[in-house]
Amino acid sequence: MDFSNAKFKEVFFAIYNDLPRGGPGNYASTEKAYALMSALPKNPKILDIGCGPGKQTLDLAGISKGEIMAVDNHQPFVDRLNAAAKAAGLEHRVRAQNADMFKLDFPTEYFDVLWSEGAIYQMGFENGLKTLGKFLKKGGYLAVTEAVWLKADPPQEIKDNWAAEYPAMTDVSECLARINNCGYRIQGNFTLPQEAWLDDFYTPMQEKIAEVKERYQADPEAMDMMPCFENEITLFHKYSDYFGYEFFVAQK
Ligand SMILES: C[S@@+](CC[C@H](N)C(=O)[O-])C[C@H]1O[C@@H](n2cnc3c(N)ncnc32)[C@H](O)[C@@H]1O
Repeated sequence: MDFSNAKFKEVFFAIYNDLPRGGPGNYASTEKAYALMSALPKNPKILDIGCGPGKQTLDLAGISKGEIMAVDNHQPFVDRLNAAAKAAGLEHRVRAQNADMFKLDFPTEYFDVLWSEGAIYQMGFENGLKTLGKFLKKGGYLAVTEAVWLKADPPQEIKDNWAAEYPAMTDVSECLARINNCGYRIQGNFTLPQEAWLDDFYTPMQEKIAEVKERYQADPEAMDMMPCFENEITLFHKYSDYFGYEFFVAQK
């Protein structure tokens, strides 16, 4: 994803801005991960990092009855989430703000839960766990999803794709070791099901790409970029046995 290319950024957000989610995930997985946190206060303080359009933030608000601070550095997502929280009558418990996850400024050991679906990789998995961990109370919980290899020896085509997109991607056991190394005790982990990739992400993305192609048909530079988005979906259908998203829940 080359966001230094202004046209790529424009096309990317023309596709992503209105999707239900910014990455794989679903209600059932958010609920299952939350249930792995066994000793939370009644109204936990939750920080949702890289919240995107905030689907999981609102799901979490319903599941947790907590107070959620959600951060993302893309203003349209922040605005979307704040509007959706207001429409749902949740604005007293859910607030989104534009912030860079590398430069967050919250009190040390303030949150009961650090939540991040598909976003912490931006910081590097281990670096993210260490850097963001300071905002988590001792005994608080971390819940993150991370792209992982599910099988050894993936075919070259998918290996090359991830080498370009996320060269640091590793497997579940290495992620578990890294979480332990960063001072957390694993509470559980599970692989997101196929529908978490499709229902709120790739299926609506496919429809959106068709719409965006119509809009940009007179723009050859933009049209040249479309296969990149289409290919991501094709590769998922072809190789989803080999890679996936893993939900990790751990206690500090
Ligand atoms: C793969 S999306 C996941 C969004 C959401 N958690 C979900 O599952 O639908 C990653 C999100 O991280 C945000 N992001 C990327 N870099 C960031 C940064 N440095 N600080 C804050 N947010 C960032 C993006 O804007 C995007 O919304």
